[in-house]
Amino acid sequence: MGALVSARTKFRRVLFTRQSIIAVILVYLVVAFIFLNPSAISWKLNLYETPPAIGPRRMTNNPPFPALSRRIPCIGPRGKLLSQSPDDDLEEVTLDIPHPTPWTGSYEAVGIPKTWTTIEGRYGPYGYGEQEQSYNRSKVDWNSTDWQMLQKQCFTRNARRFPQGETIDDSMMKHSRLRYRDLSKPPRAPQWYEFRASRRTAIVVRTWRGYEYKNEDLHYLRSLVVETALKTGGEYQVVLLVDMKDYEIDIFASEPNYLQALQDSGVPPEFESMAVLWDDRLLDTWYPLVAERRTMWQVFQPMQLFALHYPEFDHFWQLELDMRFTGDAGTFFDKMGEFARNEPRKQALERSMFQHMQKRIGDYQNFSSAVNTANNGSANLWGPLRIPDIDPIGPEPPVPHAANDTFRWGVGEDADVIVTAWCGDVRKTNDWVFRHWIGGFAAERDTPRYWCPPAIMRSSRALLLVAHEAQLLHGMYLPSEATLPSFALWHGLKLSFPQHPVFHEREDEDDFREEWFRGGPEASIDGFGPSEMTMPNGMGMSFWWQSRWPRAIMDALEGRQLKDDVKYPYLLAKKDGKVYVPNMVLHPVKHNS
Ligand SMILES: *[C@@H]1O[C@H](CO)[C@@H](O)[C@H](O)[C@H]1NC(C)=O
Ligand SMILES: *[C@@H]1O[C@H](CO)[C@@H](O)[C@H](O)[C@H]1NC(C)=O
Ligand SMILES: *[C@@H]1O[C@H](CO)[C@@H](O)[C@H](O)[C@H]1NC(C)=O
Ligand SMILES: *[C@@H]1O[C@H](CO)[C@@H](O)[C@H](O)[C@H]1NC(C)=O
Ligand SMILES: *[C@@H]1O[C@H](CO)[C@@H](O)[C@H](O)[C@H]1NC(C)=O
Repeated sequence: MGALVSARTKFRRVLFTRQSIIAVILVYLVVAFIFLNPSAISWKLNLYETPPAIGPRRMTNNPPFPALSRRIPCIGPRGKLLSQSPDDDLEEVTLDIPHPTPWTGSYEAVGIPKTWTTIEGRYGPYGYGEQEQSYNRSKVDWNSTDWQMLQKQCFTRNARRFPQGETIDDSMMKHSRLRYRDLSKPPRAPQWYEFRASRRTAIVVRTWRGYEYKNEDLHYLRSLVVETALKTGGEYQVVLLVDMKDYEIDIFASEPNYLQALQDSGVPPEFESMAVLWDDRLLDTWYPLVAERRTMWQVFQPMQLFALHYPEFDHFWQLELDMRFTGDAGTFFDKMGEFARNEPRKQALERSMFQHMQKRIGDYQNFSSAVNTANNGSANLWGPLRIPDIDPIGPEPPVPHAANDTFRWGVGEDADVIVTAWCGDVRKTNDWVFRHWIGGFAAERDTPRYWCPPAIMRSSRALLLVAHEAQLLHGMYLPSEATLPSFALWHGLKLSFPQHPVFHEREDEDDFREEWFRGGPEASIDGFGPSEMTMPNGMGMSFWWQSRWPRAIMDALEGRQLKDDVKYPYLLAKKDGKVYVPNMVLHPVKHNS
């Protein structure tokens, strides 16, 4: 009893000594500084001096963000509010014919509407057919359109919907915030806790000096800006990230240099003010420890630096110019993001390693439960994938074992990486030319890692910043397609593959489907992806880096003559003399030469 009393007194004495009171006040001030003072976190970071506040290494499992308030309509390219301008609307219709079932992926699971468009209905608002007599929409002087100004106006109208909206620095007009690294100072890598949520996503389209912009590219880019940024009240912002390649002039040395480079970049006038230029020197100064910095290996390096200099976005989609969305692009991104947010973490990697082929395995529920069965109700990964080189930043699992979780963990949490096609274990992959390419890791080629080609992905700021840190300070590298998935898994960050609808030119060939399905979850020995590693080539898919079919679909839709050896795409529907295409994303759509 006496011992207890004296312990209590001692405790009280410790609690109230002057030092501990000062310590408590200091901790309180630091926390308040990070979380309460909106101006404490600048969007323009000092990249060389350590900030006064140090946060916790690991994230916590936070409750989901509240929904943003209602979108405030914005002005479109015709100078009218988009909500009151039918000429700006794309025409998406439903047809009373059976909708084709995707070869893999699902409309229902991801929530993508089963609508159809004609080429005029799709791209008419953006200038398709404007030179024809029959063009019955009002015409736009595209050269005097300023897409960045429209985006900025739209964001300003909507700023109060976003946390600290007014403090977000939205300047991107005709100058870039990117900078060569100051080699006279030691660099530091900003950490995830130095930023607060902005609830905004950058849509970053990769392009390069000398790219020849055809009309179809212009239609595509205009549609992206209207349908993502303008129709969502600024939840997205489209950026052209322009590779100046080996351009001689030092582009960041002066404003005139930068403006000259912009001229030389070939970016069409209407998009100039949303372009952000970079060149080889930028990567040279930031990533000297990674010897190979060419795009084919390190496509995310410019994106890492973009996130570093433009941290006013929570997420960053990397898109290519050779993509097409046959329905509303904003809806597509909204649905991909929602699916990923609602997906549980448990078995998310396992689900991403199998293809959801409805004709083979049923709906998404059937698919998920087959993956669960193959994993005996547990998971191969629970929390970070531990490797000696990484001190994870992701949150601790709320229950100790995956088997104890009823698919609750991660539901409502935005994914740190959203991939657009299947993932594979790089160590087991037998036909990827870059599979042995890795450096800066203790176990080198034995390091567990995953790839999910193509490099069309969405990444959180936190994930890009840890990849940046690893490359800047430790020279750790692996190929583009493996970079974001692997860093996400090592750090215990959330990965999601929303299996959007993908079609195949060979509609009814079950044998061929079987070669891709590879027995599915049922035939898998460990539930960790198909045990058979060899896959056929992906020439005939509507979304796959090797494919030629997307071009054929676009050509047929536009009524162009197809080459003799190209079959008319079965999934196009003809009605009243018009050709309709189902809603999906196509990639790659290369220029007809
Ligand atoms: C404009 O033309 C398109 C295609 O030619 C047609 O479908 C549409 O109904 C027309 N709209 C108006 C308002 O006339
Ligand atoms: C728009 O600008 C481009 C590139 O500067 C030029 O080639 C084209 O003729 C212009 N179009 C019109 C309608 O002025
Ligand atoms: C999918 O699940 C449902 C309900 O459990 C079942 O009736 C159906 O047979 C399953 N489909 C396939 C293809 O396994
Ligand atoms: C967690 O799962 C293990 C193995 O499945 C089981 O033995 C244990 O009782 C579970 N614990 C809780 C708290 O559910
Ligand atoms: C699941 O359980 C079966 C039977 O107990 C076992 O053979 C199999 O290896 C287990 N699979 C996994 C992924 O643990």
